[in-house]
Amino acid sequence: MSDINSILHAFRAAREQKLLRVMREIVQTTGPTFEQRLLGFRGIDTVDPINVEAVLSTHFSDFGLGERRLVFAPLLGQGIFTQDGKPWAHSRALLKPAFSRQDQSMAQIAEVTDQLLNLIPVSGSFIDDENTFAIAFDKGQDYLAQSGRLGGLHWLIDSSDFRIQCKRVHEHVDNAIMQVLQEQDTGDKQSTQSILQDLVQQSTEKKVLREQCLNVLLAGRDTTACLLSWTFRLLAKHSAVFNRCREDILNSCGFSGQITRQKIKYHMDDLPLKVLRLYPSVPINSRTATHTTTLPTGGGPNGTAPILVRKGEAVGYCPYIMHRRQETFGPDAEAFRPERWLENGSQAGYVVARMLQKFSSLRLPKEEPMEAIGTEKQKLTLVMCSAIGCNVVLT
Ligand code: HEM
Repeated sequence: MSDINSILHAFRAAREQKLLRVMREIVQTTGPTFEQRLLGFRGIDTVDPINVEAVLSTHFSDFGLGERRLVFAPLLGQGIFTQDGKPWAHSRALLKPAFSRQDQSMAQIAEVTDQLLNLIPVSGSFIDDENTFAIAFDKGQDYLAQSGRLGGLHWLIDSSDFRIQCKRVHEHVDNAIMQVLQEQDTGDKQSTQSILQDLVQQSTEKKVLREQCLNVLLAGRDTTACLLSWTFRLLAKHSAVFNRCREDILNSCGFSGQITRQKIKYHMDDLPLKVLRLYPSVPINSRTATHTTTLPTGGGPNGTAPILVRKGEAVGYCPYIMHRRQETFGPDAEAFRPERWLENGSQAGYVVARMLQKFSSLRLPKEEPMEAIGTEKQKLTLVMCSAIGCNVVLT
């Protein structure tokens, strides 16, 4: 495929939300690791777990975030999600106190989950709770996703609208920061401790606070939202799984008892992991070689020899396709079958547990077809969500 054609093809595919399907077709014909060229720039794509492990773990120091810092800067500034090396280590140190304080009793997530439950109408009407900030943050991220896919040509996707969305997001976050700084001055503290409240103990520099907050918000918000909405969609389609999970929750927490990390740790964590296998929140990602290196496999005539990655070349990896490979997960790789319980209790698990505790049934609306897993309309931005949202009937 010629260079310009391959760009246009990739772009059209992304716009039509078919990028993942196209990648899957390429993998089926070329094998799990292949080379691609974009305007003369060579890159490697892989869905081979051995290569992905090399990029993220065993050869970690050979790779960095590439263009991400520049692409994300207008919206996020500099923070843990956009940095490499020493600045990244500094951000990690700054955020460490906020992340080391685990909400054992789940009090913080309980409060916001109950606020959410109270918003769910019993009359069958829809909730539309999107505010100006959410809309601006979503639009801003759409720009990041589009320009991120252009690599070195990311600057092609810039516009006054993008800058307006960035400004709106910044104003909103700056207001929240001002409020927390004022509360700190007056000693007027909220009952639950937020990441921002932890951060102001480390720094009171407004730019640092804004950028670190936005980095964490980007990392945590849509990933969790996608996980939860795919979970509810899957539970709505798999009533036996819903009933079994609900029975477990009622046995350990009762109809209105407190849900603690301890009580759900044997019940709720396998479910999110199984959902993330089929619908990984970040379905496609990449790293760029900081110096010339190799990936363990994918080269040579049989595709089993190490493969060269030159300094500056990107390695794209695709958990969405990797998690559906029959070679790894067997012939029913597309099936949703949470069976084992793991030992952990996450906050996403809490939200699911609380919904199961409160509602005795969860199903798709009559007008929505029962599509097979992976064939439903998906929207790919930085994360992958259901293109038609998460319309479910709760009773
Ligand atoms: C289902 C939920 C989540 C999923 C699937 C998820 C997934 C991921 C992935 C794949 C990355 C690596 C991205 C990359 O560097 O290319 C990442 C990094 C990160 N995530 Fe999450 N995430 C989730 C929830 C959260 C939440 C709730 C927070 C914070 C409140 C968070 C904070 C972060 C941070 C700070 C990083 C950067 C870590 C570093 O570079 O050291 N994530 N996450």
